[in-house]
Amino acid sequence: MRSGTQALVAAAALSAALAAISIDAAAQTALAGKVTSAEEGAMEGVLVSAKKAGSTVTITVVSDRDGRYSFASGKLEPGRYAIRIRAVGYDLEGPGAAEVAAGKAAALDLKLKKTTDLAAQLSNGEWMASVPGTDQQKGLLLNCVGCHSLERVMRSQHDADAFTKTVLPRMQGYVNQSIPQHPQLRRAERLMEERGDQRVQVYRSTAEYLATINRGPAQKWSYELKTHPRPSGRATRVVYTEYDLPRETISPHDVISTKRASPGIRASASRTSAGSIRRRAR
Ligand code: HEC
Repeated sequence: MRSGTQALVAAAALSAALAAISIDAAAQTALAGKVTSAEEGAMEGVLVSAKKAGSTVTITVVSDRDGRYSFASGKLEPGRYAIRIRAVGYDLEGPGAAEVAAGKAAALDLKLKKTTDLAAQLSNGEWMASVPGTDQQKGLLLNCVGCHSLERVMRSQHDADAFTKTVLPRMQGYVNQSIPQHPQLRRAERLMEERGDQRVQVYRSTAEYLATINRGPAQKWSYELKTHPRPSGRATRVVYTEYDLPRETISPHDVISTKRASPGIRASASRTSAGSIRRRAR
C-alpha cells in the first residue's frame, strides 16, 4: 500500500515534470516551421531571417535536414516580424510575415519557388566559379570586389574598347572602398603603379577578358551560372545577429559599441557592405 502511494506520488511528480518540460519547450520557441519547395520537398540549409517592425536587428537561423527552422523566444520578443529567406536559386512565396506572441510558439511554414533572376542571388565566389578563364584571369576580378559585387560587372554591356577607354580609368579614379552609393574621387595618382602606356596595356588585357564574361552587347552570358551548395549538418546549427548601420554609406568601423549595445561585428564582416553589417553591396 505504502509503496503503491509512493509510486503514485512519483508518477504524479514525473508527469508534472514532463508537463513542465513541454510547456517550457513551447515557451522557449517563439517561431518555428518547415521550409519546402516543389523541386526539393523539405529543404535543408535555408537561411530564415526575422526582423521586427521598426527594429534595426535581424536574427537569422538555418533549416535542418527535415527543413525545420526555429527561433528561440530569447531571440524574438513579441511583435510583428518580416520574414525573408536566402537559398540560392529560390525566392519565398507569399508575403513573409509572422506575429510572435508572448509565451506561445507561432507556426509559419515557408514555401519556396524557383527564382526568375538567379544572377541577382550569386555571391562573388559563385561568379568566379561560373565565369570561364584561367586562374590568372579570374584573379583580375579580385581587383573589382573591394567596392561593389561582380554582378555589376557581369551585367554590364561594355566591349573591350569601352572598358579600356572609359570604365577602367573611371574605376581607377576612385579612392579605395568607394562604394557606388557614395563614390569618392582620388585626389592624387597612386605612386606604386604603372603609368602611361604601361597602364593602358594593363587596362587592355583586363578589358579583353572582361568583355568575354560580361553580358555584353548580346545581353546574355555565354556560360552557365553555377551555385555553391547550401549549408548542411553542423553548419545549419547557427544563429546570426545582424545590426543595421545608422546610415547606408558608413562602414562597420564607424560604429561605436558601448557596454549596453554591442554591435558584435565579426572579424570577417565585409567593409564594403553598405547599410548593414552582412549585406552585400551590389
Ligand atoms: C575603388 C572602388 C572601385 C573599384 C576597385 C572598382 N569599381 Fe567599379 N564602380 C565603382 C563605383 C563607385 C561605381 C558607381 C559609379 C560609376 O559607375 O562610376 C562603379 C560602377 C561600375 C560599373 C557600372 C557602371 C558602368 O559604367 O557600367 C561597372 C561595369 C564597374 N564598376 C566595373 C568595375 C570593374 C570591372 C572593376 C575591376 C577591374 C571595378 N569596377 C572596380 C567603384 C569601383
